Amino acid sequence: MANMKWEDPFRKSVCSASFLLLSFVIGVKGGVLFSTLPKTLNVVVSTGPHNDSSHVVKAGVDHLFVSWVLNESVAAGVDASYKTVKTKLCFAPVSQVDRKWRKTFNDLHKDKTCSFGISSQPYKAAGNQTIWLIPKRIPFATYFVRAYALNATGMEVAFGQSTDRNITHNLFQVEPISGKHASLDIAAACFSAASIFSLVAFFIIEKLMMRRQKDL
Ligand SMILES: *[C@@H]1O[C@H](CO)[C@@H](O)[C@H](O)[C@H]1NC(C)=O
Ligand SMILES: *[C@@H]1O[C@H](CO)[C@@H](O)[C@H](O)[C@H]1NC(C)=O
Repeated sequence: MANMKWEDPFRKSVCSASFLLLSFVIGVKGGVLFSTLPKTLNVVVSTGPHNDSSHVVKAGVDHLFVSWVLNESVAAGVDASYKTVKTKLCFAPVSQVDRKWRKTFNDLHKDKTCSFGISSQPYKAAGNQTIWLIPKRIPFATYFVRAYALNATGMEVAFGQSTDRNITHNLFQVEPISGKHASLDIAAACFSAASIFSLVAFFIIEKLMMRRQKDL
Protein backbone atom coordinates (compact mmCIF):
# COMPACT_ATOMS: atom_id res chain seq x y z
CA MET A 1 0.00 0.00 0.00
CA ALA A 2 2.54 2.51 -1.19
CA ASN A 3 0.00 5.27 -1.49
CA MET A 4 -0.77 5.13 2.25
CA LYS A 5 2.73 6.16 3.27
CA TRP A 6 3.30 9.50 4.98
CA GLU A 7 5.92 10.31 2.39
CA ASP A 8 3.15 10.74 -0.14
CA PRO A 9 3.51 14.45 -0.92
CA PHE A 10 -0.24 14.92 -1.40
CA ARG A 11 -1.06 13.38 1.96
CA LYS A 12 1.71 15.37 3.57
CA SER A 13 0.34 18.64 2.31
CA VAL A 14 -3.24 17.74 3.26
CA CYS A 15 -1.96 16.84 6.70
CA SER A 16 -0.07 20.08 7.23
CA ALA A 17 -2.97 22.06 5.81
CA SER A 18 -5.34 20.54 8.36
CA PHE A 19 -2.87 21.27 11.16
CA LEU A 20 -2.72 24.83 9.96
CA LEU A 21 -6.51 24.99 9.92
CA LEU A 22 -6.69 23.47 13.39
CA SER A 23 -4.21 25.95 14.85
CA PHE A 24 -6.07 28.73 13.09
CA VAL A 25 -9.33 27.62 14.71
CA ILE A 26 -7.63 27.34 18.11
CA GLY A 27 -5.99 30.72 17.57
CA VAL A 28 -9.33 32.32 16.75
CA LYS A 29 -10.94 30.72 19.79
CA GLY A 30 -8.49 32.37 22.18
CA GLY A 31 -9.33 36.00 22.80
CA VAL A 32 -7.30 39.12 23.34
CA LEU A 33 -5.48 39.15 26.68
CA PHE A 34 -6.79 41.92 28.91
CA SER A 35 -3.32 42.52 30.35
CA THR A 36 -2.07 43.57 26.91
CA LEU A 37 -4.61 46.40 26.52
CA PRO A 38 -3.52 50.00 27.14
CA LYS A 39 -5.77 52.11 29.35
CA THR A 40 -6.46 55.07 27.08
CA LEU A 41 -10.13 55.82 27.71
CA ASN A 42 -11.45 57.81 30.64
CA VAL A 43 -14.77 56.40 31.83
CA VAL A 44 -17.10 58.14 34.23
CA VAL A 45 -20.27 56.63 35.63
CA SER A 46 -22.77 58.61 37.60
CA THR A 47 -25.63 56.94 39.39
CA GLY A 48 -27.89 59.95 38.87
CA PRO A 49 -30.44 61.71 41.05
CA HIS A 50 -30.99 58.63 43.22
CA ASN A 51 -27.30 58.62 44.00
CA ASP A 52 -26.44 58.77 47.68
CA SER A 53 -23.25 58.37 49.65
CA SER A 54 -23.59 54.59 49.61
CA HIS A 55 -23.82 54.42 45.77
CA VAL A 56 -26.85 52.22 45.70
CA VAL A 57 -29.10 52.07 42.63
CA LYS A 58 -32.25 50.08 42.01
CA ALA A 59 -32.67 47.73 39.05
CA GLY A 60 -35.70 48.57 36.91
CA VAL A 61 -35.93 52.11 38.32
CA ASP A 62 -32.62 53.95 38.27
CA HIS A 63 -30.35 54.97 35.40
CA LEU A 64 -26.61 54.93 34.93
CA PHE A 65 -25.06 57.93 33.20
CA VAL A 66 -22.01 56.53 31.43
CA SER A 67 -19.52 58.65 29.51
CA TRP A 68 -16.17 57.87 27.88
CA VAL A 69 -13.54 60.01 26.19
CA LEU A 70 -9.99 59.54 24.95
CA ASN A 71 -7.50 60.45 27.67
CA GLU A 72 -5.93 63.71 26.49
CA SER A 73 -2.47 62.72 27.64
CA VAL A 74 -2.09 59.73 25.28
CA ALA A 75 0.24 60.07 22.29
CA ALA A 76 -1.33 61.31 19.07
CA GLY A 77 -2.43 58.51 16.74
CA VAL A 78 -2.81 55.92 19.49
CA ASP A 79 -6.50 55.74 18.58
CA ALA A 80 -5.96 55.31 14.81
CA SER A 81 -7.45 51.79 14.83
CA TYR A 82 -10.39 52.52 17.17
CA LYS A 83 -13.74 52.04 15.42
CA THR A 84 -16.27 51.29 18.12
CA VAL A 85 -16.51 51.72 21.88
CA LYS A 86 -18.52 49.23 23.89
CA THR A 87 -19.38 49.94 27.50
CA LYS A 88 -20.22 47.14 29.89
CA LEU A 89 -21.43 46.60 33.42
CA CYS A 90 -18.86 44.56 35.34
CA PHE A 91 -18.81 42.65 38.62
CA ALA A 92 -16.48 44.02 41.28
CA PRO A 93 -14.22 41.41 42.96
CA VAL A 94 -16.37 41.39 46.12
CA SER A 95 -19.27 40.00 44.02
CA GLN A 96 -17.13 37.39 42.24
CA VAL A 97 -16.05 35.43 45.32
CA ASP A 98 -17.22 31.79 45.06
CA ARG A 99 -19.08 32.51 41.80
CA LYS A 100 -17.34 30.77 38.90
CA TRP A 101 -19.85 32.17 36.42
CA ARG A 102 -18.59 35.70 37.17
CA LYS A 103 -14.90 34.82 37.14
CA THR A 104 -12.22 37.06 35.67
CA PHE A 105 -10.03 35.57 32.92
CA ASN A 106 -7.20 37.43 31.24
CA ASP A 107 -8.42 35.90 27.96
CA LEU A 108 -11.35 38.15 27.06
CA HIS A 109 -13.23 35.33 25.28
CA LYS A 110 -13.45 33.51 28.62
CA ASP A 111 -13.78 36.52 30.87
CA LYS A 112 -17.06 36.79 32.77
CA THR A 113 -16.30 40.03 34.64
CA CYS A 114 -18.28 42.26 32.29
CA SER A 115 -21.38 40.25 31.50
CA PHE A 116 -23.85 43.02 30.65
CA GLY A 117 -23.59 45.30 27.62
CA ILE A 118 -24.58 48.93 28.12
CA SER A 119 -23.82 50.63 24.81
CA SER A 120 -21.98 50.30 21.53
CA GLN A 121 -21.08 53.61 19.89
CA PRO A 122 -18.90 54.80 17.05
CA TYR A 123 -15.49 55.93 18.29
CA LYS A 124 -14.74 59.64 18.47
CA ALA A 125 -11.85 61.10 20.44
CA ALA A 126 -14.32 63.60 21.94
CA GLY A 127 -16.24 60.67 23.39
CA ASN A 128 -19.91 59.98 23.90
CA GLN A 129 -22.39 59.11 26.61
CA THR A 130 -25.34 56.90 27.42
CA ILE A 131 -28.21 57.06 29.85
CA TRP A 132 -29.02 53.46 30.66
CA LEU A 133 -32.04 52.23 32.57
CA ILE A 134 -30.68 49.39 34.70
CA PRO A 135 -32.68 46.32 33.59
CA LYS A 136 -34.58 44.35 36.24
CA ARG A 137 -32.58 41.22 35.35
CA ILE A 138 -29.33 42.75 36.68
CA PRO A 139 -28.48 40.74 39.81
CA PHE A 140 -27.94 42.25 43.24
CA ALA A 141 -24.17 42.89 43.29
CA THR A 142 -21.38 45.46 43.34
CA TYR A 143 -20.30 46.81 39.97
CA PHE A 144 -18.15 49.17 37.92
CA VAL A 145 -18.28 50.15 34.24
CA ARG A 146 -15.62 49.30 31.67
CA ALA A 147 -15.30 50.53 28.08
CA TYR A 148 -13.49 48.62 25.35
CA ALA A 149 -12.25 50.25 22.16
CA LEU A 150 -12.66 47.80 19.28
CA ASN A 151 -10.90 47.90 15.91
CA ALA A 152 -12.53 47.35 12.51
CA THR A 153 -12.53 43.55 13.02
CA GLY A 154 -14.20 43.82 16.43
CA MET A 155 -11.06 43.02 18.43
CA GLU A 156 -10.43 44.81 21.74
CA VAL A 157 -7.49 47.20 21.37
CA ALA A 158 -7.80 49.45 24.43
CA PHE A 159 -9.94 50.00 27.49
CA GLY A 160 -10.93 52.35 30.27
CA GLN A 161 -12.94 51.88 33.45
CA SER A 162 -14.81 53.87 36.07
CA THR A 163 -12.54 52.56 38.81
CA ASP A 164 -8.80 52.19 39.43
CA ARG A 165 -6.81 49.20 38.09
CA ASN A 166 -7.33 47.23 41.29
CA ILE A 167 -11.08 47.88 41.21
CA THR A 168 -11.42 49.40 44.66
CA HIS A 169 -12.78 52.92 44.10
CA ASN A 170 -16.06 54.34 42.75
CA LEU A 171 -17.94 51.06 42.93
CA PHE A 172 -21.72 51.00 43.15
CA GLN A 173 -24.34 48.51 44.13
CA VAL A 174 -27.39 47.41 42.15
CA GLU A 175 -30.26 46.28 44.34
CA PRO A 176 -33.61 44.70 43.51
CA ILE A 177 -36.46 47.28 43.34
CA SER A 178 -37.38 46.91 47.01
CA GLY A 179 -38.11 44.41 49.74
CA LYS A 180 -41.72 45.59 49.73
CA HIS A 181 -42.21 44.59 46.10
CA ALA A 182 -40.62 41.23 46.69
CA SER A 183 -42.94 40.47 49.62
CA LEU A 184 -45.94 41.72 47.63
CA ASP A 185 -44.99 39.31 44.82
CA ILE A 186 -44.72 36.49 47.32
CA ALA A 187 -48.08 37.44 48.85
CA ALA A 188 -49.68 37.47 45.38
CA ALA A 189 -48.19 34.06 44.58
CA CYS A 190 -49.43 32.64 47.91
CA PHE A 191 -52.86 34.14 47.33
CA SER A 192 -53.23 32.55 43.88
CA ALA A 193 -51.93 29.22 45.18
CA ALA A 194 -54.49 29.43 48.00
CA SER A 195 -57.32 30.23 45.58
CA ILE A 196 -56.43 27.31 43.30
CA PHE A 197 -56.32 25.07 46.35
CA SER A 198 -59.75 26.21 47.55
CA LEU A 199 -61.20 25.81 44.04
CA VAL A 200 -59.95 22.23 43.89
CA ALA A 201 -61.19 21.61 47.43
CA PHE A 202 -64.60 23.03 46.49
CA PHE A 203 -64.94 20.66 43.52
CA ILE A 204 -63.91 17.65 45.56
CA ILE A 205 -66.37 18.49 48.32
CA GLU A 206 -69.13 19.07 45.79
CA LYS A 207 -68.42 15.74 44.07
CA LEU A 208 -68.43 13.96 47.43
CA MET A 209 -71.73 15.55 48.40
CA MET A 210 -73.32 14.59 45.06
CA ARG A 211 -72.17 11.01 45.51
CA ARG A 212 -73.61 11.00 49.03
CA GLN A 213 -76.96 12.27 47.73
CA LYS A 214 -77.01 9.47 45.14
CA ASP A 215 -76.23 6.90 47.83
CA LEU A 216 -79.11 8.10 49.97
C1 LIG B 1 -4.74 59.95 31.59
O1 LIG B 1 -3.51 59.30 31.38
C2 LIG B 1 -2.47 59.72 32.25
C3 LIG B 1 -1.19 59.05 31.77
O2 LIG B 1 -1.36 57.67 31.58
C4 LIG B 1 -2.83 59.35 33.66
O3 LIG B 1 -1.84 59.73 34.56
C5 LIG B 1 -4.16 60.01 34.03
O4 LIG B 1 -4.55 59.59 35.30
C6 LIG B 1 -5.22 59.67 33.01
N1 LIG B 1 -6.42 60.43 33.30
C7 LIG B 1 -7.53 59.86 33.74
C8 LIG B 1 -8.65 60.79 34.02
O5 LIG B 1 -7.63 58.65 33.91
C1 LIG C 1 -23.27 58.89 20.40
O1 LIG C 1 -23.88 57.60 20.40
C2 LIG C 1 -25.16 57.52 19.81
C3 LIG C 1 -25.66 56.12 19.99
O2 LIG C 1 -25.69 55.77 21.35
C4 LIG C 1 -25.08 57.91 18.35
O3 LIG C 1 -26.35 57.89 17.78
C5 LIG C 1 -24.48 59.30 18.24
O4 LIG C 1 -24.30 59.64 16.89
C6 LIG C 1 -23.14 59.37 18.97
N1 LIG C 1 -22.62 60.73 18.95
C7 LIG C 1 -21.43 61.02 18.44
C8 LIG C 1 -21.03 62.45 18.54
O5 LIG C 1 -20.72 60.18 17.94
